Amino acid sequence: MQFNILVLPGDGIGPEVMTEALKVLKGVGRKFGHTFNLTNDLVGGAAIDAYGVALRDETAHQARASHAVLFGAVGGPKWSDPAAQVRPEDGLLALRKSMGVYANIRPVKSYPFLVNASPLKPAVVDGVDLIVVRELTGGLYYGQPKRRWSTQRGRRGVDTMKYSEMEIERILRVGFELARGRRKRLTSVDKANVLETSRLWRQIAIELAPQYPDVTVDHQLVDSCAMQLIQNPKQFDVLVMENTFGDILSDEASVLAGSLGMLPSASLAGIPAARSRRRARGFYEPVHGTAPDIAGQGKANPIATVLSTAMMLRYSLGLPKEAQAVEQAVDRVLEGGQRTADIVAQGERQVTTSQMGNAIVEALASAA
Ligand code: IPM
Ligand code: MG
Repeated sequence: MQFNILVLPGDGIGPEVMTEALKVLKGVGRKFGHTFNLTNDLVGGAAIDAYGVALRDETAHQARASHAVLFGAVGGPKWSDPAAQVRPEDGLLALRKSMGVYANIRPVKSYPFLVNASPLKPAVVDGVDLIVVRELTGGLYYGQPKRRWSTQRGRRGVDTMKYSEMEIERILRVGFELARGRRKRLTSVDKANVLETSRLWRQIAIELAPQYPDVTVDHQLVDSCAMQLIQNPKQFDVLVMENTFGDILSDEASVLAGSLGMLPSASLAGIPAARSRRRARGFYEPVHGTAPDIAGQGKANPIATVLSTAMMLRYSLGLPKEAQAVEQAVDRVLEGGQRTADIVAQGERQVTTSQMGNAIVEALASAA
């Protein structure tokens, strides 16, 4: 089969980890006989330097015309002046909105060999396997009015938290569907004791629940959920929440895994249904950022981007067998003791970004 993929490596370690993910994708093509047509483009700081904007119109257009977008990371000290007129993150936010990828899926799994890498006790993190489902194209990030201005009595600023029934229902359904394909537990996160948008959210969650009788739903307030996530994370299967809550809790949840360098994400324009092979246009990126302090040194862990590529195979290209082959290759390489700088322990041998990529490609090629 033929697939069109837009590749946006971005800034910092983005290009390094993307190089490795593309090696693995090429390996998938060879092994399973698929052709991946790749288009490369600049985004974020790299696009600001070259074109003066974080995302060009033609890039957004190409993204909408592709089966999927593979994204590295954007940003860095060079572009982070708060007074700057354009910022790299604008490119990411505009791309999400323009592709309509409202469902951000961030799986967090603790790897046995990393339980000591987390600042939490091994007994707390061992066995954690959860998914944060974050609404990605609404709420405070996009609501209008959104501006800063000056008055006689000082400066003011406003952001707007706004959600429609349609936006809430569709993201809750993603949560229900994902839970259905797993341990069938859904935690809906809100701040219904204070916020109107949250009261609407909870009402809709309660109304939808009878349509998913196989899924057990509970409702948690976001502050209490933040605490539960580090106190007793094993209670969670799928968590679903609005954009800003999801931004915050997904970073918190990432600590459970031991390293940000292991965490992939998918952002989808549709529902990944447990019982069908329906595909959705998607945007795939590692959860980590550009890590400017280690860029160009071969220290970055490419696994988050490789696993994001596996998610792309599964959700946007309809290739679950291929996705699983990539995930198993990663597992095998880790079992074999290969470690990048972020996950290496005393006495273990450290490999570079590209050695890790090569090892995954080899494991993939030699699998039955
Ligand atoms: C994330 C990031 C982005 C967000 C930033 C880079 C705009 O923190 O993907 O979680 O806030 O959504
Ligand atoms: Mg974030």
